[in-house]
Amino acid sequence: MSMRITTLIAAVWLLAAPAAAGQAAPKPPSNEDCLTCHGDPAAKRDDSRGIAVDAKHFEGSIHGPMACVDCHADLAKAELPHEPKLAKVNCGSCHEDVAGKFRDSIHSWAKEKAGLVSAPACADCHGKHDIMPRTDKASRVYRDAVPGTCGSCHAGVRERYDVSIHAAALKKGDSRAPVCVDCHSAHAIQRADSPGWRLSVTAECGTCHANVVASFHRTFHGKVTELGFTRVAACADCHGAHEILPASNSASPISKAHLVETCSKCHRGANERFVKYDPHPNPGDYQRSAVLWWADRVYRVLIPGCFAFFGLHSALWYWRSKREHQRGVGNRR
Ligand code: HEC
Ligand code: HEC
Ligand code: HEC
Ligand code: HEC
Ligand code: HEC
Ligand code: HEC
Ligand code: HEC
Ligand code: HEC
Ligand code: HEC
Repeated sequence: MSMRITTLIAAVWLLAAPAAAGQAAPKPPSNEDCLTCHGDPAAKRDDSRGIAVDAKHFEGSIHGPMACVDCHADLAKAELPHEPKLAKVNCGSCHEDVAGKFRDSIHSWAKEKAGLVSAPACADCHGKHDIMPRTDKASRVYRDAVPGTCGSCHAGVRERYDVSIHAAALKKGDSRAPVCVDCHSAHAIQRADSPGWRLSVTAECGTCHANVVASFHRTFHGKVTELGFTRVAACADCHGAHEILPASNSASPISKAHLVETCSKCHRGANERFVKYDPHPNPGDYQRSAVLWWADRVYRVLIPGCFAFFGLHSALWYWRSKREHQRGVGNRR
């Protein structure tokens, strides 16, 4: 059906409708009303951009039970056919909690304050008429789909992420593999150079790598980072952020081939000897840190030993002074 014919039918029908209803209070237009025009797959604007809405997709989406005018709210009381230019949909009218988070993000800032049209609004990540819950495989924000959704704009980052061990784990179906939003969040995304976020991302690595984060905090880098300074090395300075690979992979910045270069970013003149320093010392692991292991064992024996020795000493001392006191009292009698 051509657009012009549909428009005509709809206009005639809409003119007839109130008369038939006996001049009742104007009802908001129903989805069927809207779909008389927009249900036509060939429906286009004058400049030939499509305006068709797939009714099946819409009904199968999480918003399927809703009325078109719940989102296109300016049409709730409007006459049809409507003005060609309509207000933007405000998802926040129902999702205020998410919209509130989102308002402080770099994306919202880029769109609203810096006027970057390329920055995403809700619909750029979620879609418009086919939105599914994030637990549904067909959703654009289903875990496995997230790198693709973010990568539609951040293509360079996505390419780097795709070669990482994290992406490999995701492809293998490892449910612990991190995607973009584990490290960046979905709605509260900060600039990557903001100090607060850089510190919090270290803790985020720790949700999956608890041991190495604990060992990192034993080092000079870790202690200074903990105090809130971002000048020293945090995880991504040595491992990279997106292209993370195990040390055994020669492309990794922590591989034998690249380690000197990696430390040299901050330690001028670093050499093979300098990089022998262990960034993840673990006193529980003899293979890795024999000296630390021994120091730890000696400590473990020494400290309880000291307490036991002095504890016993005090107890005996007490016992002796009590006896002497009793003896003294007895003698006086
Ligand atoms: C009589 C046919 C007709 C009916 C009924 C109709 N529309 Fe439209 N609609 C159009 C046409 C034609 C355009 C394209 C206007 C243009 O860009 O020139 C359009 C454009 C739109 C747009 C894009 C507006 C913009 O600013 O770009 C939205 C959103 C929309 N319609 C929603 C609806 C909803 C919701 C309903 C039901 C309440 C509805 N329409 C009913 C014909 C119709
Ligand atoms: C969950 C909210 C929501 C519902 C419900 C909804 N829409 Fe939309 N619609 C949007 C968003 C978001 C856009 C993108 C433009 C914008 O941001 O305002 C859009 C755009 C449109 C457009 C412009 C063409 C395009 O695809 O960009 C038309 C036409 C339209 N909607 C028709 C409808 C019709 C008809 C229904 C009911 C069957 C409907 N919408 C229900 C959110 C919604
Ligand atoms: C940069 C992409 C992006 C933008 C922009 C975005 N979202 Fe999301 N959203 C996501 C991702 C990814 C998830 C899934 C999060 C997860 O799995 O932890 C999500 C989850 C959700 C959820 C379900 C989970 C929850 O937290 O309740 C809702 C609702 C939601 N978004 C609404 C919105 C609204 C409303 C906006 C606009 C104010 C918006 N989103 C903007 C990417 C985005
Ligand atoms: C008129 C109210 C309303 C508007 C406007 C609205 N939604 Fe929803 N949305 C709902 C309801 C109701 C649900 C289903 C209940 C739930 O799970 O929160 C829902 C569910 C969702 C979910 C799935 C939540 C999950 O658990 O994964 C997402 C994502 C979502 N909406 C995004 C959007 C986006 C994006 C927009 C704007 C384009 C929007 N919504 C506009 C009412 C609305
Ligand atoms: C394991 C955690 C992690 C994951 C997963 C992750 N990032 Fe990042 N991202 C970071 C860190 C850390 C930085 C800061 C890097 C730096 O400054 O050296 C960063 C920086 C960025 C930047 C700004 C700097 C740049 O390189 O352009 C963007 C954009 C970005 N990430 C997007 C993404 C996208 C898109 C994805 C998913 C494909 C993703 N990130 C996955 C941790 C992560
Ligand atoms: C519609 C395009 C678009 C989508 C989709 C998108 N972004 Fe962005 N993103 C931008 C723009 C534009 C900026 C601001 C300009 C810039 O700094 O690159 C930005 C900025 C960022 C930054 C800060 C970059 C910096 O230099 O510090 C991060 C981090 C980021 N996005 C992560 C994500 C993540 C994670 C997702 C998916 C959940 C995502 N983006 C989805 C367009 C997008
Ligand atoms: C000063 C540089 C540096 C910093 C900072 C650093 N690492 Fe490492 N990391 C290395 C090197 C070098 C190796 C490989 C050495 C080895 O495993 O013997 C390694 C190994 C690892 C491994 C693999 C070995 C294992 O035991 O699983 C993980 C995972 C890891 N680091 C995560 C992290 C995380 C998370 C952080 C931040 C809390 C971090 N790293 C901070 C240099 C660093
Ligand atoms: C949501 C969980 C998660 C988060 C967050 C996470 N990782 Fe991973 N990481 C994994 C998984 C899963 C693997 C793959 C393990 C495997 O296959 O052995 C992995 C592997 C690694 C490896 C290679 C380990 C090896 O065997 O040598 C390094 C290095 C690493 N991650 C560093 C980081 C850094 C740095 C961060 C933070 C910027 C981080 N990871 C955040 C889950 C996570
Ligand atoms: C992002 C920058 C950065 C990177 C990368 C980095 N460091 Fe550091 N590191 C510092 C800073 C800053 C200090 C504080 C002391 C200083 O100013 O020299 C420090 C301190 C140290 C110290 C203790 C103080 C000293 O100089 O004796 C050692 C040991 C060390 N780093 C080893 C390494 C090794 C090994 C690597 C590579 C695996 C590395 N660092 C990578 C920034 C970095």
